[in-house]
Amino acid sequence: MKSENPFDNALAQLASITDIVSIDPEYYEILKNPRRQVVVSLPLKLSNGEAVTFTGYRVQHNNARGPYKGGIRYHQNVSLDEVKALSMWMTWKGAVIDIPFGGAKGGVTVDPFKLGMDDLERLTRKYVSTIERDIGPEIDIPAPDLNTNPQTMAWIMNEYSKMHGHNVPACVTGKPIELGGSEGRNAATGRGVAICVREAVKKYLHKDVKDITVAVQGFGNVGSNTVMSLMEMGAKIVAVSDVFGGAKPIGKKYFEQSFDSLQTSALKAGSVSKIPNVQQISNEELLETETDVLVPAALENQITEENASKLRARMVVEAANGPTTSIAGKMLERGGITLIPDILANSGGVLVSYFEWVQNLSRDHWTEEQVNQRLEEKMMHAFNEVVSLAEKENIDQRRAALVLAVRRVVAAMKLSGWH
Ligand SMILES: NC(=O)c1ccc[n+]([C@@H]2O[C@H](COP(=O)([O-])OP(=O)(O)OC[C@H]3O[C@@H](n4cnc5c(N)ncnc54)[C@H](O)[C@@H]3O)[C@@H](O)[C@H]2O)c1
Repeated sequence: MKSENPFDNALAQLASITDIVSIDPEYYEILKNPRRQVVVSLPLKLSNGEAVTFTGYRVQHNNARGPYKGGIRYHQNVSLDEVKALSMWMTWKGAVIDIPFGGAKGGVTVDPFKLGMDDLERLTRKYVSTIERDIGPEIDIPAPDLNTNPQTMAWIMNEYSKMHGHNVPACVTGKPIELGGSEGRNAATGRGVAICVREAVKKYLHKDVKDITVAVQGFGNVGSNTVMSLMEMGAKIVAVSDVFGGAKPIGKKYFEQSFDSLQTSALKAGSVSKIPNVQQISNEELLETETDVLVPAALENQITEENASKLRARMVVEAANGPTTSIAGKMLERGGITLIPDILANSGGVLVSYFEWVQNLSRDHWTEEQVNQRLEEKMMHAFNEVVSLAEKENIDQRRAALVLAVRRVVAAMKLSGWH
């Protein structure tokens, strides 16, 4: 597939709103560039005796509204430009959902599936001890992203805490509950995506969520929890996929089994595409499935100029970060396909990360109901703000979300006197 440098995509998005928000040139210049870019070498002797040096990144885009915040991803294609783009999107995301965080992102260029657990743990600890001065509860708070999970966050907390001589749960979010993680954090991003789907189909397709079909690309944390929440709401899931391929039900219009049984079968088979009695499809076919809503929940650059015209969805809700290239986005708009942008749709994750950080700092523990209720309220508020702005300015939802975010970030920079 024709991919786009994600940082070029992020810059093109920022440029696309300058006719609506008049950003002073000196502030625009600051926003275009992350404030700090940390690139580190992580030499490691693997359990098999091989000596390998991995490259790690932590990019801090903007902290005008609060400490830097953003996930850490492990993937063989992680690059500085990818992490830069993701850090900028985190700044906008925190501002759209209106929490007091700036934006950052981290990553290590590694295929984690080629390492055993021991090596992954040592790599994580090496990464944390190397960037220890750049992170911390009031400085920059990491979280899970692609191929990292609560276990990875537990290692991060432990390594950071050892270096500080006491337990510091607020140094990272997305931790296991036993270590100060928040109820509802694991499912938060997917739950927030599902709330956006529910509201967006009501608003733009005039349909109840119970009457819609959805295809979801990616069945990891975000994809599977999106499927779970949508199934709970009564939506019909017509196709799912992961890195090994996709699946459609045979002889039925949608998956009729419960989410638990779908997930258990996928875990047992090693992939959703290997579940018994499903029709195997490719990831390309999944993206081209006839459906009300398509939810890309895997990687960047999935909807491109090559396949945008082949989409048969009426709406795209971006659960992944940057799944649609800038050219493809314009093609969807021309084709009348509504797009709910990543910085709004997947902001439930950073929102509940914020809840986790607040609970850690105040030594509190909220119930799952409390977390989910606050998530619902904040997501609804942000969704309605973006929709209203899109209508007022007569612009698409991506630009509306960005306008909202950039106005808030620039206001904070100006009040603090960044120039
Ligand atoms: N975890 C979070 O809280 C969070 C929050 C906001 C945004 N995101 C974004 O959501 C996306 C997914 O993150 P995640 O945390 O679910 O990661 P994950 O590692 O838990 O899951 C990723 C899923 O994508 C699949 N996948 C990987 N490569 C693929 C490919 N080439 N084609 C199809 N499927 C592929 C994997 O098999 C897996 O099912 C990323 O873009 C991430 O930045 C994550």
